[in-house]
Amino acid sequence: MNLQADYKNMPGHWVLASLGKKVLRPGGLQMTRQMLADLNIDEQDEVIEFAPGLGVTAQITLRKNPLKYVAIEQNEEAAGIVRSYVNGNNRDVLIANAEHVPLPDASATIIYGEAMLTMQTPAQKSRIIAEAKRLLKPGGRYGIHEMNMAPVDLEESARKEIRQHLAKAIRVNVAPLTEEEWQQLLIQQGFKIISVHTAPMHLLHLRRLIQDEGLKGVLKIAGNIVKNRQARDRVLTMRKQFVKHAAHLQGISIVAELLPVGHTK
Ligand SMILES: C[S@@+](CC[C@H](N)C(=O)[O-])C[C@H]1O[C@@H](n2cnc3c(N)ncnc32)[C@H](O)[C@@H]1O
Repeated sequence: MNLQADYKNMPGHWVLASLGKKVLRPGGLQMTRQMLADLNIDEQDEVIEFAPGLGVTAQITLRKNPLKYVAIEQNEEAAGIVRSYVNGNNRDVLIANAEHVPLPDASATIIYGEAMLTMQTPAQKSRIIAEAKRLLKPGGRYGIHEMNMAPVDLEESARKEIRQHLAKAIRVNVAPLTEEEWQQLLIQQGFKIISVHTAPMHLLHLRRLIQDEGLKGVLKIAGNIVKNRQARDRVLTMRKQFVKHAAHLQGISIVAELLPVGHTK
């Protein structure tokens, strides 16, 4: 990604993207594959992806040849990159906020979004999930892949400290929830939980980097880090916080099904 770089203030995910990192979600590609398996996308599905970023999951989904695929991405440059993977009938990329998607009600059978709810305020999280509900047909499935705070009873003071450290390092709001809270957000909006998985938050661990980016990708990222001192400082600061709080941070994927209106449980 060729961002006009203000490396001191740029959101951490764009720092990583500018260095060549493509997978920008906490549980890595393995968790993405798990979420997609639970979503079980097939050729009859009408899919909406929230916040595709650099389009790594978009490419996996498009290989499943769904009836329809629409990406909703608010960053123009990222949307342009995703657009380069998306062509043909019933394929689109819209530059829009997932809180207000310019599509009619009940336009999808599957919606998913990765590493995009964690950075939102509580009100924004609710609005995005409500939008997923509006856009889904009854019985449709919604998948999320986000940052999880563990254990469920971690005291608020510790949670606040972790949120502050992460936000300072990443330069965006970072508000992970606990497994129970993520589930409740979905249940409150009328979803039934189908599956929940967690994985270590190893976004910047060497083993995960190789799994997600391949050896060639990691060598390219390493070369770019060596050449760019400001970006290197940002990456090291982020990594330091991820390592420091590793015991309390995870990736989480949840797949939920939209219950028909009037269904209580
Ligand atoms: C951390 S990146 C994750 C990208 C990609 N999903 C991935 O996992 O690699 C966050 C992405 O969410 C997008 N984003 C954040 N809030 C959004 C919103 N309200 N509507 C649409 N896109 C949003 C950002 O532009 C960015 O592409």
